[in-house]
Amino acid sequence: MKKKDFYLTTPIFYPNEKLHLGHAYCMTIADIVARYKKSKDYNVYFQTGSDDHGEKIEKKALSLSTNPQELVDKNVKLFQKLWQKLGVEYDFFYRTSSASHKEKVQRIFQQLLEKGDIYRGKYQGNYCIICEDYVKEQNCPNCHLDTKILEESAYFLNVSKYQQQLLEHYKKNPDFLVPATTKKELFANFLGEKIQDLCITRSDITWGISVPNEPKMIIYVWFEALLNYLNSEMGEKFFFTDFAKETKDEQTKEFSCVTIQNKDGEYLLVYNKKHGEWVFPGGRIEKNETPKAAAKREIFEETNLVVENLEKVGQGIFWNDTWKAHFYQTKSYSGEVLVKEKKTIGEIKFFATNEIQQLKVSEAVKYFFEKIHDCEIIHLIGKEITRFHALYWPIILFSLNKRLPNKIIAHGWLLVKGEKMSKSKGNVVDPLELLEKYPPDLLRTYFVAKINFLQDGIFSEELLKEFYQDFFIHNLGNLCQRVGKMIELYNNNIIPAFAEMENIHLKKYYQNCLSTIENYQQKMNNYQLTSAFQEIEKLLNASNKLIQELEPWNLFKNKKTELLNSTLNYLTNGIKIIIFLLTPIAPESSQIVFEYLNLKYNDFNWVNIKDFKQITGKKIKSLKGTLFPV
Ligand code: MSP
Repeated sequence: MKKKDFYLTTPIFYPNEKLHLGHAYCMTIADIVARYKKSKDYNVYFQTGSDDHGEKIEKKALSLSTNPQELVDKNVKLFQKLWQKLGVEYDFFYRTSSASHKEKVQRIFQQLLEKGDIYRGKYQGNYCIICEDYVKEQNCPNCHLDTKILEESAYFLNVSKYQQQLLEHYKKNPDFLVPATTKKELFANFLGEKIQDLCITRSDITWGISVPNEPKMIIYVWFEALLNYLNSEMGEKFFFTDFAKETKDEQTKEFSCVTIQNKDGEYLLVYNKKHGEWVFPGGRIEKNETPKAAAKREIFEETNLVVENLEKVGQGIFWNDTWKAHFYQTKSYSGEVLVKEKKTIGEIKFFATNEIQQLKVSEAVKYFFEKIHDCEIIHLIGKEITRFHALYWPIILFSLNKRLPNKIIAHGWLLVKGEKMSKSKGNVVDPLELLEKYPPDLLRTYFVAKINFLQDGIFSEELLKEFYQDFFIHNLGNLCQRVGKMIELYNNNIIPAFAEMENIHLKKYYQNCLSTIENYQQKMNNYQLTSAFQEIEKLLNASNKLIQELEPWNLFKNKKTELLNSTLNYLTNGIKIIIFLLTPIAPESSQIVFEYLNLKYNDFNWVNIKDFKQITGKKIKSLKGTLFPV
């Protein structure tokens, strides 16, 4: 089976200031999601990067008497050091100060200008340098600091033009932005009323990308920063274009394949009797042909069906009056007219995506669904930057005729003594300093276990230390050592064989193991990271309880060997499941236990992890000292 693509992004960080535990939180969560998706056999593309431009950076560089490029280059190294120390395995690091980003941003700016979605006007109002945001209030509603007054000739993005389209998207995709509380706030504060167009240039700064042919006009840092998701190698691949609306590129049209969608997002396929398979209506747009005319002609050429009124095809009503036709690049386009006789030889019908997967379809259809449609795009962000991601970003994509991400996940904040950890409050914890003292897995696990995902959560070093003792020493470490020691004492370090047992406790525990695996996946699939972790904790508790219930030392003493061996087998399998599930969260610690048990993470997958026979006969190591340092 072909693997599905999964494109995951974090915000790109401002490399202007000291590192911040909030940054580490965001990246750790993304890394956990990425590692989990890899285990589920996705092709994961995890992108992060640095947001190099803007007034904040310009000012900081000035205050340090250095130039902005040098400043960001130096600070980016610190970020990268942090990701490495935290065990964050990203695939791509995007820099907005790269030459290619500049070129692409300018091209996009020009394109939208020509389209009329960017226009020139005048900006009068407040600007917050810390948040790089145009705000209504004199004190910024986000960081509460004083703003500066701007009055300048500027370019604007015509956001209001796409407001309706965005509202419809939210209606059709209620989980486009999670959690619901963040979505509610966005609607209450912005989407509920007419959205103001966004000012997207500054003429009082120099550090940034200029408008083409206007060196004094600098493109607003958020406008170009958001484009990182699209301009990267992955972005270009996965945010595919609706070519039908871009009829200029002859080259693209030459190798394309038209698809038509109705308002329910179903695809129109034509059945061709000659080939006995369902295909998209056809090939390329001819010179001077509109996409609509091309679709009619292609339907005819495949089936001999004359479609007078495309709007009436199938049960679906096409989008507004326009209907939606995509032209996608395909590898194989023959250009052949398949039907030459004068009788109808095919049929046309709309299918939902999941129905298409059951049909016998052409290579072009397969190519489209595998390569393009199936890529899941997820943006993970902090909740304070929701408006940029869940309002402006989709609108930029609409304007560019690009697909939208599947989901935007807005996580909460790390709080210190009840307040958001932030530079302006002076309560920032430096993650690199923490990692000098504590193992990365402790931070990673704390983030998931103690900060309820998608809500705000408290951080303090005291709580971190407490959690280490509770979870790593007394819970996980203790259980593994206890079970290991019993295998050493009662069975010469050999994991005993599995046997189906009538014992009520073992039966219950076995079921518990299986349901933990299912529940954990269900929660992780829904990005309920904290509840997924709680499944692991529950199995740890159940394991300890099983030991209390069956008292293996008494089974040994009373020579109840069969029950003893099974108990040890079941418990080791329970531990195996625990560390398998814990691997995305705490990879190093899980590895320590895998090694102790003489097992390899890579030998397991979501199917064989349920098999209790596989580990039989393995010789575990004899432990000197403790698994995790006390
Ligand atoms: N450069 C912009 C993002 C542009 S994306 C096109 C930016 N950068 S940032 O460095 O200020 O923040 C990066 C991420 O760190 C954001 O997701 C932000 O929410 C997160 N955190 C910053 N402070 C935080 C906490 N106190 N707690 C949790 N995460 C927070 O915004």
